[in-house]
Amino acid sequence: MSRGGYDRFVDQSFVGRDAELGLLRDSLAKVAAGTGAAVLVEGEQGIGKSSLLRTGLYRAAAAGCRMLWGAAYELDQRFPLRLMEECLGPATPEPVLAETLAAAAGAFAGDPVLAGIERMLARVDRLCVVSPVVLVTEDLHWADEVSLLVWHRLARAVGQLPLLLVGTYRPGTGSEDLERLRRGVAGRGGNVIELGPLPGAQVAELVGNLLGGRPGQRLASAIGHAGGNPLYARELADGLVREGKVRVSGGVADIVGEQTPVRVPDSLDAAIAERLAGLAENAVAVLRWAAVLGAEFSVTDLQAVSGQSAGDLMRMISAAIGAAVLAEAGERLAFRHGVIRQVLYEGLPAALRAALHIQAARALADAGATAERVAAQLAAAQRMAGPDAEFASDWAADWLAAKAPVLIHRAPQVAAELLRGVLAGLAGDDDRREILEASLAIDSFLLLRTEEVERIAGRLAASARDPDRAAEMAWLVAYSRMRQGRLAEADAAIATALARHGHAAAVARLIALRAMIAVLLGQFGESARIADEALAAASRSGDRLATGYALHARSMLSAVQRDHETALAENGRALDVIRDDPQATDLRVLVLANRISLLSELDRWPEAMDEARRGLALAERAGTPRVVTARQALADQYFTCGQWDDALAELEPSAGMPGPDYLSLLIHGMISLIAAHRDDWQRAEEHLGRVPDELMDHPAAQGNTHYFLVAKAMVAERATGPAQAAQVLAAVLDPGLAERMVGCHLLFLPLARLALAVGDTATAAAAAVGARKAAEREPLRSRVALAEHCQGLVDGDAAAVLAAAGYFEASGRVLDQAAALEDAAELMAQQGDTASARQALAAALDAYQRLGAAWDIRRADARLRRFGLRRGRTRYPTRPQTGWEALTPTETKVALLVAEGRSNPDIAACLSLSRNTVQTHVSHILGKLGARSRVEIIRISLEHS
Ligand SMILES: Nc1ncnc2c1ncn2[C@@H]1O[C@H](COP(=O)(O)OP(=O)(O)OP(=O)(O)O)[C@@H](O)[C@H]1O
Ligand SMILES: [Mg+2]
Repeated sequence: MSRGGYDRFVDQSFVGRDAELGLLRDSLAKVAAGTGAAVLVEGEQGIGKSSLLRTGLYRAAAAGCRMLWGAAYELDQRFPLRLMEECLGPATPEPVLAETLAAAAGAFAGDPVLAGIERMLARVDRLCVVSPVVLVTEDLHWADEVSLLVWHRLARAVGQLPLLLVGTYRPGTGSEDLERLRRGVAGRGGNVIELGPLPGAQVAELVGNLLGGRPGQRLASAIGHAGGNPLYARELADGLVREGKVRVSGGVADIVGEQTPVRVPDSLDAAIAERLAGLAENAVAVLRWAAVLGAEFSVTDLQAVSGQSAGDLMRMISAAIGAAVLAEAGERLAFRHGVIRQVLYEGLPAALRAALHIQAARALADAGATAERVAAQLAAAQRMAGPDAEFASDWAADWLAAKAPVLIHRAPQVAAELLRGVLAGLAGDDDRREILEASLAIDSFLLLRTEEVERIAGRLAASARDPDRAAEMAWLVAYSRMRQGRLAEADAAIATALARHGHAAAVARLIALRAMIAVLLGQFGESARIADEALAAASRSGDRLATGYALHARSMLSAVQRDHETALAENGRALDVIRDDPQATDLRVLVLANRISLLSELDRWPEAMDEARRGLALAERAGTPRVVTARQALADQYFTCGQWDDALAELEPSAGMPGPDYLSLLIHGMISLIAAHRDDWQRAEEHLGRVPDELMDHPAAQGNTHYFLVAKAMVAERATGPAQAAQVLAAVLDPGLAERMVGCHLLFLPLARLALAVGDTATAAAAAVGARKAAEREPLRSRVALAEHCQGLVDGDAAAVLAAAGYFEASGRVLDQAAALEDAAELMAQQGDTASARQALAAALDAYQRLGAAWDIRRADARLRRFGLRRGRTRYPTRPQTGWEALTPTETKVALLVAEGRSNPDIAACLSLSRNTVQTHVSHILGKLGARSRVEIIRISLEHS
């Protein structure tokens, strides 16, 4: 068990709190039976939060639960994932290896913090399959924000895991994130226990238990100062006993001497100070060192920082344990209560505290502590000095110069502050300046602080003595500008750097980046030449990353020149070259994303889908911020080939996740569109409403409005008829907009159909022309078929429309196929070929049925009834809403794996899905089956297998 173990100081003398204990024991029984819950306990310092949990959850192990218990500490607050690591072990399986990799990866790796979040969530999933888990996270008011995020996401999963998630915090001290967490728990029906003062009778009982006699009147009135705070009450009682002022006789404990007035310390802190006053001075000095180390510490660390001999130290420690100041906590030592540490710590003058923190950092570093622990001490010292204040420690500068490359990946915010502080205290010509500044520049790049990248990396690109470093800095500046769409300036930065450092080994990366920028600038001839130059330079220096970027640039170029086969080959070579190089994580996600769109444009669906799933799993594991993009790309594939339920399972977890703005148009647009096809108008309108109006006016967003507009048109068609709907779609007739809109081809067909329905042949013809132009711009087989369908519809050419339907069927585009069959059926019916029309209609309805597109079935039916065609006897049952039959094919697979006792990450690996997608499936399964736990899924699935 980690520090803060629950078996420490178990209270034999716990009194009262019956309702709260009942709730905890109840939750424990439920989790032991497979149903999780989230519980928060709120209350002031010393009110009894920890004791309550220890008492209420004491029997967890006996109930078959695994108990994990950890606390957040003030010093660790800004270290991502610290609290969760405290409870669940280190985020990276092999810290040493991970440190080496992080250091080597510079600016090119994924985000280890995001990756750590996924690993933590996956770990809990796996633990929960072995046995129910009780996870207690104490003192959330000091938790790092990333751990709070993990908490939040775990809390959302307690419905599907045997996980009892418990947290404590002091009110009024936490962050906005904590407040959100609290609202989330309360909102989802979890419990928030507010612990108030203990009633007088129970305080009397507590003190009575301690002293072995019921408090008499004078003692009771002295203890009354504690205002129902049990810790304070205990301290007061202990103090009176220490001073020999209490006598127990006849079962009553009271203060001796009727006359003399008793003086009681007027605060909890004062009571603690009196407790400490009983210890020898040198022991208090050592305890202050311990307070600098934190709420818990090892004897080794304390020895290292205090410089005491082992023998002396042991004597002082046992005295402190005797005085109930320290207590043993597994192999470590802990202050018996946080307040004791606080009183010791705050008793030190600030300047001295800062110096002690630096000394502690040094001692810890010498003793081989991790970079984070050393940095926590340095950060505490820095905070004494104030933000951005100079931080004059020669030792710290040395240490940071060596460790910053690791630290910027583990704790980027803290690293930035320390680097700034140390740099402020360094002489202008100090040798260490360059490496420290370069680390700060990379850190700023990772934190997306573009202004700082410009300033610091920009300066170093011009002035660094090491040419490779200068080239790397120029790369940062250029890439950061490219990310912001400042292409010409990005190009200029590279040109300058190449002129200066043409011989640096890192030059190949610069040239490769320039090739990418040239493609984006539309300078195709130029970019081909530059990409070749980059490839040559990269092969001279053996730089795989640069080769990868250059090949990626070539592939982009071939794609914009419509040579998709070549683009795909170059893309494949790029992947081969970078393989699993940790430096290339970000590039790999990028290259995979392009691969997916190339494959699907070439109608190579199964491969596209595989790659899309692979891309998403990689993005999730590596923790790149591109994960939502990868999810959306996969949803696109599912949508086009008619696996709509799977598309929805990808989209749901994306909604509300951070990502570029335009993604919300694609996400909500597609959810709404599927809902409209499925006759679920409430949902369709709800998701349309989630897209903010201002987004629609944004030029960058307009290119991604295709799903949104088609969904909006369907809603309009149902509400007010085809004329209104056609008006919504007519926006795409503006050639400027059509050119910018990636999915404009999706709009022309419904526009033509709606226009024809109201006799507006001119608009229908314009739509056919628009479709043809889109196909000319991008002469893909699918675009051409859509254009032919559209033209055929306008011309009344059933054969042309049927031919398109044939292609759509062969290439697995279910919705396109159904729409073409429906149109062909109407045309054939108009022309009197009832038999063929009936056949086409049946095939269309069958395809719609597979999609669950109830609205389209109704429409097709109504359209053809005019010609005397009926659905015939075939019924088109919609999938039931609940029960085993309600499960989609993928949900059924997931349910069967759950029934085998597999965890979400294992199921994810087995079905090549992302863990979060599986989580979404499991919560749908629970909902449809009306089950409350995985155990119930097992039972129900056994009945069906
Ligand atoms: N109901 C109770 N019965 C008996 N003793 C109690 C009770 N509640 C708290 N105490 C005592 O009070 C002390 C402080 O309680 P505890 O450590 O649980 O407080 P806390 O709310 O967790 O404080 P913090 O915010 O500092 O973590 C403990 O030493 C415990 O023995
Ligand atoms: Mg506590």
